[in-house]
Amino acid sequence: MHFITLDSETDFNGWRKAARTLALNNIKPEDVTWSAPTDEPELFAAPRETPPLETPAGTFNVSASFVDLARTVILHSAPERFALLYRVLWRLRSNHELLQVATDPDIAKLHALSKAVRRDKHKMTAFVRFREIGREPKSRFVAWFEPEHHIVEATTPFFTRRFADMAWSILTPDVCAHWDGHAVSITPGVPKSDAPSEDRLEETWLTYYASIFNPARLKTKAMQSEMPKKYWKNLPEAALIRPLIEQAEKLSGAMIASPPTEPKRLQHREAPMPKRVHADTESIAALRDEASHCRMCELWKGATQTVFGEGPQKASVMMVGEQPGDKEDLAGHPFVGPAGQMLDRALAEAGVDRGKVYMTNAVKHFKFVPRGKFRLHQKPGIAEIKACRPWYEREKASVQPELVVAMGATAAHSVLGKATPIAKTRGRILELDDKTRVLVTVHPSYLLRLPDEEARAREYAHFVEDLRIVAKHLSEAKAA
Ligand code: URA
Repeated sequence: MHFITLDSETDFNGWRKAARTLALNNIKPEDVTWSAPTDEPELFAAPRETPPLETPAGTFNVSASFVDLARTVILHSAPERFALLYRVLWRLRSNHELLQVATDPDIAKLHALSKAVRRDKHKMTAFVRFREIGREPKSRFVAWFEPEHHIVEATTPFFTRRFADMAWSILTPDVCAHWDGHAVSITPGVPKSDAPSEDRLEETWLTYYASIFNPARLKTKAMQSEMPKKYWKNLPEAALIRPLIEQAEKLSGAMIASPPTEPKRLQHREAPMPKRVHADTESIAALRDEASHCRMCELWKGATQTVFGEGPQKASVMMVGEQPGDKEDLAGHPFVGPAGQMLDRALAEAGVDRGKVYMTNAVKHFKFVPRGKFRLHQKPGIAEIKACRPWYEREKASVQPELVVAMGATAAHSVLGKATPIAKTRGRILELDDKTRVLVTVHPSYLLRLPDEEARAREYAHFVEDLRIVAKHLSEAKAA
């Protein structure tokens, strides 16, 4: 028997070197025992004597996709991962297509381990919550996280990009990652009692979370699969979830119990708009999947994820905003933050059912500058609008809306294909060459930025007026 002890739980280079030497010496997988330094020693284990191995001069190649898969799988906490990887490597030498055989138990297991690691990495990017220790300019941000796998080091680059200009530490029972604005250091894991439990920004964060919680869009099961309960104990907002859900259930119960409203009779209607037929029938689901890997500009680097459009596959209205904000970037859905709330309110007042509208943005990644713990929105540039435009065009070809509503200058630029002053086009129906109708209006966040109450009320009423054109279109499309 050959006993191989790697330098650490994630020692991919050590595994690769040992696996290569073993394979070139024709040592069968069943004759090797792999371990990491922290593995529990077996009770009554016999002394480990390994016959010496030569490093033969020969070599062999494996595909880059196996190497990528192995780099991910080695981060899993299952002790059998090293042996599994060596068994697959051994088998790949005589069966080059093995990785394509999804039904093979070893390959299925490899993919399952890789998926679990990727999910754990994603959860870490979503659920790390920093708490501030000390006061600026000397403050440090510290977070506690409990990963399932050995993913901390591999996920650290996400945080160095996202929080480049703050000093932070992510503490875990496995290992801890620290960033001082220049370099990362990794130290051994610590107990939870080493992590801080509250900071001065906690209350602000809780108020913000409660204000963006949208009871009309509550899907408890989806929420729990995205944010499993085991993470709740380390999320400051978790204490709010139960009361907010209860409140949402009460509100929807009252809505169900109230008598139905009489539908208004349509007095008069114009000829329906002709339907256009497009050769391109890519589904939104397929486009969303493809866009999740988009690298057409640099914005993906700082953003959490691509925020693609959402709504019915065949909506007759498509509404286009500028780009996802902080909240949308974290949630992965368009218009769910403060601007989305303003939009929801105005849509409801104008009589537009948001569920009937396909909602998207001209730019699909969040552009921001980090400022301490916050991420400040930055307007996308022309290059970013252009780089993202193919996604808007493909969404439009897929949904085939009859009316596109461009909210704000960035959306108008993308929808009309050129920089267009809002004041010149606002509130009029324009027609594109392909007969799509376009309505230009302001962006809802413009209303949030207005300094005085009076201007806000006036501009809000104007925005609602614009949205009534959308309501009229929807009721005509329905009647057609
Ligand atoms: N602003 C936008 O333009 N889009 C969003 O999704 C959110 C805020």
